[in-house]
Amino acid sequence: MNIILLGPPGSGKGTQAQFLREHYGLMHLSTGDMLRHEVECETPLGQQVKNLMDSGQLVPDGLVIEMLSQYFDLPEYSVGIILDGFPRTTPQAIALDEMLERKGLDIDHVLEIQIDENLLVKRISGRFICVDCGAAYNEYFKIPVESGICDICGGRDFKRRVDDDTDKLRMRLRLYREQTHPIVPYYLGKGVLKTVDGAQDVEKVSKDISLIIEGREKP
Ligand code: AP5
Repeated sequence: MNIILLGPPGSGKGTQAQFLREHYGLMHLSTGDMLRHEVECETPLGQQVKNLMDSGQLVPDGLVIEMLSQYFDLPEYSVGIILDGFPRTTPQAIALDEMLERKGLDIDHVLEIQIDENLLVKRISGRFICVDCGAAYNEYFKIPVESGICDICGGRDFKRRVDDDTDKLRMRLRLYREQTHPIVPYYLGKGVLKTVDGAQDVEKVSKDISLIIEGREKP
């Protein structure tokens, strides 16, 4: 099963990707995580994209497509994938179709997580991440069970993302509206797009996603 998670910054794509990975054994491909890794490792790609990412702009299509296609050809990604943060533009959607076709694969579900933009400020400004395992927390909605200790790996170091401030969020939301949301009709036309209410609590969003991918949703 291959799934695309579509939604504005902070809508919960990464959170729900973690759920899908744990419950359905799918591989998680987050272009944001990959790019942040490139930046942290100061690779040539990382050096090229750092300023764009820090300021909340999109990385050029060619660079992202090239990076993702390297993962696509690895055998471990044949079990089924969750694409989180890709595609983000029409050229990326077309490139994805070509990558899938090369491997004889298809997208089974595109899940658009819809949410009022006003709710995203707390989601983004409150987010902090475990340095060791990348688990996401939120000072308003989800703090670790034991203060200062990651629930998943026991790590004690947390960090915030450079692009998680209100001004940059505004830019990221604008780019989502202008460049990413226009791919919705592309997937509607393919008959694979469903919407999910992302304003609900995490567990309810996960439940709705399960109903869709297991074909048990109410008509
Ligand atoms: P990326 O890493 O993809 O960031 P994003 O799309 O802006 O999304 P976020 O990671 O901010 O949010 P999310 O939807 O995953 O929410 P999360 O689950 O974390 O991209 C970053 C940058 O990389 C881009 O700006 C661009 O520069 C570059 N880039 C990446 N891909 C690219 C591409 N394809 N093309 C070009 N450039 C690209 O949740 C957020 C917070 O809310 C967390 O604290 C979480 O705990 C909390 N939360 C989640 N769900 C709920 C809920 N239901 N209720 C309450 N709190 C919740």
